[in-house]
Amino acid sequence: MRRPVIAGNWKMHKFIADSVATALALKPLVANANHCEVIIAPVFTAIKSVADRLEGSNIKIAGQDCAPEKKHGAHTGEVAADMLRDAGASYVIVGHSERRQHYAETDTMINRKMHAAIAAGLIPILCIGETLAQREAGIAERVVRGQIEGGLRELTASDLEHIIIAYEPVWAIGTGRTATPEQAQQMHSFIRRVFAEKFDEEASRRLRILYGGSVRPDNIAGLMAQPDIDGALVGGASLEAETFARIVNYD
Ligand code: G3P
Repeated sequence: MRRPVIAGNWKMHKFIADSVATALALKPLVANANHCEVIIAPVFTAIKSVADRLEGSNIKIAGQDCAPEKKHGAHTGEVAADMLRDAGASYVIVGHSERRQHYAETDTMINRKMHAAIAAGLIPILCIGETLAQREAGIAERVVRGQIEGGLRELTASDLEHIIIAYEPVWAIGTGRTATPEQAQQMHSFIRRVFAEKFDEEASRRLRILYGGSVRPDNIAGLMAQPDIDGALVGGASLEAETFARIVNYD
């Protein structure tokens, strides 16, 4: 009942020409991937060019971030959610751990971005996850619960139908150290429980929860076999079309 999502986060990689070339190489390789939604998130400057070349394909575009403001105005350096949509995006990554860690994004700021994204008609992919120190201190669940509650504050029941959550343990990002399928499943099922408690049992059954952190062609199937893992948010392994296509076509 939950359609899987495989999303590639290109982070701050690739000029426009390389972004378009990678997207065009990916297109035929995933054209028959009817079992899931396929998303790529290029840098802002490449979104429009990539979206134009992918029009009519089954690959959708995500922004990697958006402004917390809903209205256009004097916000130097920011890109509004409806501008991303205008450029061809239909999703946006919100609250990635790199933004939390290196750009001091708080749950309050992330919550405003969630509201802005939904108001613009984008589907936000809310990223949550604990650091290694937090896991070792035994507070991983507490941290994740706080990020869910903070990130989703004051969203309505109908808003909640249109969001995706990505669990990305910080210690697994770009480290080659993937959470085991069992570790990931444990946290995914916890996230679904928290969502059910806080919001609604029925909506929690429909919520798609992606795993992110060193996902590769050789570990995707094991992760996807878990009952509460509904897809993946892939960083490094999404930069090359053939590798990412092997992840998309995992089954
Ligand atoms: O958003 C995806 C991400 O942070 C995971 O990156 O390189 O470990 O797949 P990576």
